[in-house]
Order: sequence, then C-alpha cells, then structure tokens
Amino acid sequence: MGNRQVFKKRRDAFIAAMTGDAVAIFAAAPLTTRNNDVEHEYRQDSDFYYLTGFDEPESVLVLCAKDRKTTMFVRARDAEREIWDGPRVGVDGAKSDFGADDAFLIGDFDEHLPKLLQDKNRLYFRLARDRALDDRLLAIIDKGRTRARAAFVWPSEIIDPGSVLHEMRLFKSAEDVASMRKAAAITADAHKRAMAAAKPGMHEYEIEALLLEAFRRHGSERPAYGSIVGSGPNATILHYRSNNRKMEAGDLLLIDAGCEFEYFASDVTRTMPVSGTFSKEQRAIYEIVLEAQLASIEATRPGATLEEIHRRSVEVITAGLARVGILNGTTEKLIAEDAYRPFFMHRTSHWLGMDVHDVGPYFRGGKPRALEAGMVITVEPGIYIAKDCDKVEARWRGIGIRIEDDILVTEDGPVNLTQAIPKTVAEVEQACRAS
Ligand code: GLY
Ligand code: MN
Ligand code: MN
Repeated sequence: MGNRQVFKKRRDAFIAAMTGDAVAIFAAAPLTTRNNDVEHEYRQDSDFYYLTGFDEPESVLVLCAKDRKTTMFVRARDAEREIWDGPRVGVDGAKSDFGADDAFLIGDFDEHLPKLLQDKNRLYFRLARDRALDDRLLAIIDKGRTRARAAFVWPSEIIDPGSVLHEMRLFKSAEDVASMRKAAAITADAHKRAMAAAKPGMHEYEIEALLLEAFRRHGSERPAYGSIVGSGPNATILHYRSNNRKMEAGDLLLIDAGCEFEYFASDVTRTMPVSGTFSKEQRAIYEIVLEAQLASIEATRPGATLEEIHRRSVEVITAGLARVGILNGTTEKLIAEDAYRPFFMHRTSHWLGMDVHDVGPYFRGGKPRALEAGMVITVEPGIYIAKDCDKVEARWRGIGIRIEDDILVTEDGPVNLTQAIPKTVAEVEQACRAS
C-alpha cells in the first residue's frame, strides 16, 4: 500500500455508504504516557489509518457526504519539535501527500466544528473513545440547538461509523490481501527459524527475541500482538506472556506469534518438540488437533458460519480424546455434555485484519452470520491438559497444543495465507532438526 489511491477509494466507499446529509468525524489514536516525558510506542487507530494512511497523532479526519470532501486537521510543522521527534506532514503535506481537499491546524478544530456540523442532519462519530472530544462535539451540538430559530439544521442523530466502516474492513480488497500475504510470509520465516533454533537449555525469551528480530528485519512495523512462547506446562496457559522459562528436553514449545505489515496482522500458532521428536503421547494429541484444524479449514467456505467451523473442531477433538481414552462415551453424548471443554476451552476462529481480533459483527439478527468471499479468519483449535489435571492418566499431563493458520475465504475454497509454515508431524520434526 502506501498508495494514495487505496485510501481515497476507501474514503469514497465510506462516503457513498453514509446515509442522509451526513458528516463523519474520525480521531487519531491518542498518545499515551508511559512515565514522565516518555510515551508508549505510538500506533495509529486502525479506522483512522484505513481511511488516511496517516500515522501522526493529534489529527482528525472529516468526511462530508454532500460535497464528498476530505478535510484533515493536523499538527503544525514545528522546526523545534521536529528536531526531537522527526518530520511532521503539516497542513500542506496533508493536501499534497494524503489527498485532503482541505487541511487545517488541529488547534483550529474547535473553531471549524460548528461550520462542519451546520446543515448536516447526521453525524457519524464513535462516542466513548475519547471523552474530551465527545464533550467538545456535544457542547457544539447543544449550542446549535439553542439557535433553533435560525435557519440551520443540526445533527439530530449520532451514528457509530463502525456500522459502516467495520463492515468494509471485514472484506479484504486485493491490496489488503497483498499486505496480509506479506505479513504471513514474514511470520512464516520467523516460525521456521524458531523451529530450527529451539533447543533444550534455551530460554523462551531467546525464541521471542528471534521472532521479533525476524519480523523487524523484513520490514514489519511491529508484532500484531504480544508473542506467546510457552514451553512444557506453559503451553497449556492460553495467554502465557512471561516467556522466561528454561526449556527442557522432552518439552513441547507452543509459539503464538505474528507480525503486522502495513497495518495488517498475521496470527499464527505452531507447537513443536524442543528435542526434535514428539513423544508418543504428544504426537497422539498433536494428530488430533491437526485433524481438527484441517477439518475446520476445509469447512471455511462461503455460506458456512464460525459456529459450524468451530463445531467441526469440537467433533474431531471429542472423537480423538475418546479414541485415546481421555474421554469415555459416544462422541454425540460427550459433545452434548461439553466433555471436551476442560481441554478445548476457547473458540476456533476470529476475524483477522488490521486488528488481530478484527472488527465486524459476528452475528446478524441474533444468528451467526455466514462467511463470504473476501473475509479472513483464523482457524486455531487446541488441546490443553493442565500439568495437575487429575482426570487423566499422568502420561497426558502438561501437554498443550494449538495450531493456528490465517484463512482467506474465497468462492474457490479456503486459501491458507500461512500455508508455508511446517505443520504435519513430519514437517515440524524436520524443521526442528534443521539448523
Ligand atoms: N494470538 C491471539 C489469538 O490467537 O487469538
Ligand atoms: Mn494466535
Ligand atoms: Mn488467533
């Protein structure tokens, strides 16, 4: 991306989808202080970036339905600040480089607001994200109401722009998919390198460092979420983040890590044997999770729901746990009793896009919505047997396995964006032995 036309196309589509005599206002993500004069790493708000490609804080985007105009409010150029923080685009740059029809200083936003709201009957604005901005907008709307005898119209409806924009973000364009493929390719390289590197005696954080280095070295801006590198019993902790244990011979290592590229996420999990070969029990559980994942990926087609895709994993995992003797009973009865849940306690899929848990409604009219071509989801079943689980024989305890890929829904069937990462038992063992 980085292509002005991509952002303009998105703004035009959003403007066309607004109803009424409407204006939309989007704010940049706020800067947040870590301590004293040190800020947290800045990442632009996904909605704002989707429509502008602009990554500076303290900015506002205004889209007007009637004249189809893009107006941006941005920080002033500032020679002194730019020595410290780097160049700013400024008002002229917003027009020349980011396609704004009009651009003003952010400091003048309050002054322009009444004009922007006047003669509009609808305001698309996401309330409750920035309470200070909410207050400024609401105060101006309230002031407008007191001038009811003037011939102005003021917004009488405030609509969440997510109702339009998040539906747009759910469907990936060719450009979006190209970015997601790049994120997937970088993530694939990182996972392969982690498989080759992991050895007994290494710490989980050494593998985390290797992943981050691989992301950054290939131009990824940042990880799409905090990397999970869990060995041994830590593989059974779903949101494990300490990544500080020393790996031991015979451990499994679960890595859930993906990079962001051009603001699009990848989200991948692989589980591998630290010593290079799965034990009999690890392999048995791995084969069940893999069979579940492949069945769910196969079901990832237009018309299917995430509910149905999850159900495929539940069926295979339940049948598999019964086959190896961890559960007892018929698959149907065990599913009806939720017997799998102590071992598979999360959902199989979520939307994936600019955010790792991406935006967009999962339900329509109270029912799970059907998948359509252009959506991207993860498929990530797992089996987790806690190290102190006394409901199973000791030999199964402490095994945690998840396998996660990123799947593009197409009319021609599922396209696995993260296909390149070793996944079968033979592939993973071979990748672990590579050096
Ligand atoms: N890494 C977050 C998730 O898999 O949903
Ligand atoms: Mn994940
Ligand atoms: Mn995920």
